Amino acid sequence: MIRDQWYAVLESKEVRAGKPVAVTRMGEKLVFWRDPSGRLACLADHCPHRGVALSAGKLTGECLQCPFHGFEFDASGACRRVPANGKNAAPPKAMHTTAYPVREAHGLVYLWWGEPREAYPPLPFFDEIGEGFVYSTLKDHWATHYSRAIENQLDVVHLPFIHATTIGRGNRTLVNGPLTRVKHCYPADNLLELWVYNELDEGQTPLRASQIPEPTRHPFLQFRFPNVWHNWISDSLRVFVAFAPIDEANTLMYLRYYHKVRTPILSQVNGWLGSLGNLVIERQDRRVVITQQPPRSDLDIGEILIPGDGPIITYRKIRRELIEEAGGE
Ligand code: FES
Ligand SMILES: [Fe+2]
Repeated sequence: MIRDQWYAVLESKEVRAGKPVAVTRMGEKLVFWRDPSGRLACLADHCPHRGVALSAGKLTGECLQCPFHGFEFDASGACRRVPANGKNAAPPKAMHTTAYPVREAHGLVYLWWGEPREAYPPLPFFDEIGEGFVYSTLKDHWATHYSRAIENQLDVVHLPFIHATTIGRGNRTLVNGPLTRVKHCYPADNLLELWVYNELDEGQTPLRASQIPEPTRHPFLQFRFPNVWHNWISDSLRVFVAFAPIDEANTLMYLRYYHKVRTPILSQVNGWLGSLGNLVIERQDRRVVITQQPPRSDLDIGEILIPGDGPIITYRKIRRELIEEAGGE
């Protein structure tokens, strides 16, 4: 996983007041909880005393209390109380568990994967999903590395095959371009934008990306490193995906269907149908993508790529550069 990045890893509503939540993300067992003011905290889900899962404990004001011997840990991971040592004893300094920087925005929880620092880059999202949208979310588990799940969302060659009955209808197998634009600036903003020009094959030669005229419309797809994606369907309809890495072989997809509200009833029906449609499409992808070997993508994994795979090559290059810029994985 690329270090020194904010990863969208959960939805805010998954961490309710008063109850610690255990999840695996980034290959680590983690516990999330909220203090009485609602502020989010995230610790390694491992008590440094005798190895119990802290998530099985309970909240005591500012702290999370281990269920085994009642030691209490604050949001910085420091132990604040060892009941067996008496309430006047200072807890041993080494009695400390790892705390992860976390933030919330757009109904998502972001986790900083890297060394804590003074100033952090902005949280990756899309300004294009602005005011006036409502959304519904579906979660789906994919048994593959998140890089494969992301690449699938940048793959325009697969549309008429995997999605022949849905978004790939019309047999537009010939791939012009696609056109990919990149804004790469470590670590603040790494954005990949994509315009798709698939068409029916009538014997014409596909256009290379360099032959495609300057687009006048908004990109069809945007991907912002390390793990959020946006599909501009129309001014009032969008699909968003956060690819939360569970571990090296598993990803949790948070699929959101965003739309603008006209009337509340219509909006509910629209949201429901839209989410259902998303799930059908996403399951068409999942069935195939989880069979890809190796499960983790990289620049040099021996695949034989074609011009239509341009966005995937770009994704791999930037991913590699970000890994190098962060000093390795
Ligand atoms: S194992 Fe957590 S307090 Fe003992
Ligand atoms: Fe797909």
